[in-house]
Amino acid sequence: MIQKKYKKAIAEYLEVDPTQVSLYWRGRVGLYCILKAMDIQSGDEVILPAFTCVVVPSAIKYLGAKPIYTAIDPLTYNIDIEKLEEKITSKTKAILAQNTFGLSSDLDPIITIAKKHGIKVIEDCAHGFGGFYKGKKNGTSATAAFFSSQWNKPFSTGIGGMVVCNDLELAKKIQTIQQSFEKPSFKDETMLAIQIFIRKNILRPSIYWAALKLYRWASQAGLISGSSDAGELEDATMPNNYLKSGASIQAKKGIEAIQLFDKNIEHRKDIATLYNNAFTKLNISPVYQPEYATHTFIKYAFLVKDQPKFLKLAQQNQIPLGDWLNSPIHPIRENLERWDYHEGSFPLAEKIGYHILNLPTDESISIQEANRIIHFLEKNKSELVESWKDL
Ligand SMILES: Cc1ncc(COP(=O)(O)O)c(C=O)c1O
Repeated sequence: MIQKKYKKAIAEYLEVDPTQVSLYWRGRVGLYCILKAMDIQSGDEVILPAFTCVVVPSAIKYLGAKPIYTAIDPLTYNIDIEKLEEKITSKTKAILAQNTFGLSSDLDPIITIAKKHGIKVIEDCAHGFGGFYKGKKNGTSATAAFFSSQWNKPFSTGIGGMVVCNDLELAKKIQTIQQSFEKPSFKDETMLAIQIFIRKNILRPSIYWAALKLYRWASQAGLISGSSDAGELEDATMPNNYLKSGASIQAKKGIEAIQLFDKNIEHRKDIATLYNNAFTKLNISPVYQPEYATHTFIKYAFLVKDQPKFLKLAQQNQIPLGDWLNSPIHPIRENLERWDYHEGSFPLAEKIGYHILNLPTDESISIQEANRIIHFLEKNKSELVESWKDL
């Protein structure tokens, strides 16, 4: 069975046993499954960075638990460890340690704090497949981790997710719960295969903005399986058919992507080096690279003075920019209370969200295209923010 082969390929890459790996329709479903297997339920609390994707607190809330947001470090965009312990209460059951833009959280101190309080650490590796923390592959240091293989993630299966669990008892529980999930239908498989085909054969950087607009419209209208179903951005009510396991088409694409993955990561690092050099030359702080981790740069984040203005300039010049994490719970910018986030509670994270943009590093970006992007940055230098301290 192709899913078995895919699990084996992931396990070999992460140097774990295939029984530790499970597959899902999306990464968020994998997170839900981990939380469920940890017996997280009504009244429990889960700590997460106030700089994540809204589907993360949603998965917590679907179990009746409460997301407890914590401050981020403006250099890494991951949890500010200094501020972590004060968030722990007798109800805390888990801490989510994110790999924002491909950079692992500093896990050792997080795991030490968690152990002291008898709570689990889950790595949110949605951005982090292929990176390392102190020489260990992302996803293999904490109790469990989930990954995303949605568009724009380290490798893509259209949409998709997987879990690796490093606690063998818990891994068994996760497998049992995953097996109870609905299997993707023939329609799900076919629609996703068509989307993958279109993306591979038609999408080019030159039509990026038009395609992005069409993709967002079609996914909100329920015509395709986009980043989120329409209802997922309205409130934290679990959508129908959410609990779905991985599809065969995802396994097929995933196996192909893992075979070529080292090349993919090398390309991203090469493009990131060009951006690093360019920002340094412009006297803009380049992306921070701490010694404890190997960054995979699935996106190269930077700060601008006026986000809407810069996005418009990029669009006019056909520069493919992203705006990930434009809010503590991306992409929600109003009524964040629906996900228990109280506006004003993390002013720095909120401010960063209003000034952050990202450059692409994937294989559609040739060196020539990266140089065109750099030229655009140089031309618009006055719009860039030198450091988060200037926000
Ligand atoms: C930080 C983070 N965590 C989790 C997810 C969820 O992944 P998926 O879209 O595969 O459910 C995302 C999605 O973009 C994300 O950015």
